[in-house]
Amino acid sequence: MARAIVLRVNHREDLFKYDDLIGGDVFITNDVPHFITVPTTAGTGSEVGRSAIIADDETHQKKILFSPKLLAKIVFADPELTFDLPPFVTAATGMDALTHNMEAFIAKMPHPICEGIALEGMRLIHLSITKAVKSPDLESRSQMLLASMMGAIAFQKGLGVVHSLAHPLSSLLDTHHGLANAVNLPYGMRFNSGVVPDAFRRMAQAFDLRDTTGEALVQYLFELNDRIGIPHHLRDIGVEPKHIEQLANLAIADFAHPNNPRPVSRDQFKNLYEEAL
Ligand SMILES: [Fe+2]
Repeated sequence: MARAIVLRVNHREDLFKYDDLIGGDVFITNDVPHFITVPTTAGTGSEVGRSAIIADDETHQKKILFSPKLLAKIVFADPELTFDLPPFVTAATGMDALTHNMEAFIAKMPHPICEGIALEGMRLIHLSITKAVKSPDLESRSQMLLASMMGAIAFQKGLGVVHSLAHPLSSLLDTHHGLANAVNLPYGMRFNSGVVPDAFRRMAQAFDLRDTTGEALVQYLFELNDRIGIPHHLRDIGVEPKHIEQLANLAIADFAHPNNPRPVSRDQFKNLYEEAL
């Protein structure tokens, strides 16, 4: 929101004209006012990002306003500002950060630096998310805030099928973004597990799992959701069978999945929603 506002100051066309997905970034030519970011959740990592994501009320699609000019000049990342987050928001936003790190790590676009950052982000979340949700202290809040920034830095490399499953839930049903990712994450990772086994092994190592198979990692994610109070099924967060066709239409049009390591079709999105339902 803040980035959309600072963009607006010196760019007066309809905001969606600047949509990166239709090449609108070329119209972002003027300076934006000096601005700083102060995260108050540990999740999106938006404080270190360069884009504003806005849902179009008419098409329910998410639009991206992207420009290096939208990078904050200063970030104040103070974990004390997240102390009062309630457990649910801590859990859901934390799982958004985990999804960023995992999807970025396996995204198709090669970027070894981002991959290293993503692995460390996963490790920090593994160590701290349950504590941050259940009995937060300075260390767990600090690690979650760092991991959140790491996720957002890493996902310059791209995201994947989980975000494409999650975005339509938010734009159509107003589902919390982190919650939508958290519920879909085990299913999306299972979808990907066969195509990048080495990457899955390294992610399992980051989570300190003895069994480094894809399915062991999927089970770890289900158990993690259990521990922090996130349900296993979309039906528990207000999704009904009648929504699936429209969700699949929106998911296939989403910007995140082209970087997924396994290509995904509309029918496969439908199957994934049905599986998660
Ligand atoms: Fe996200």
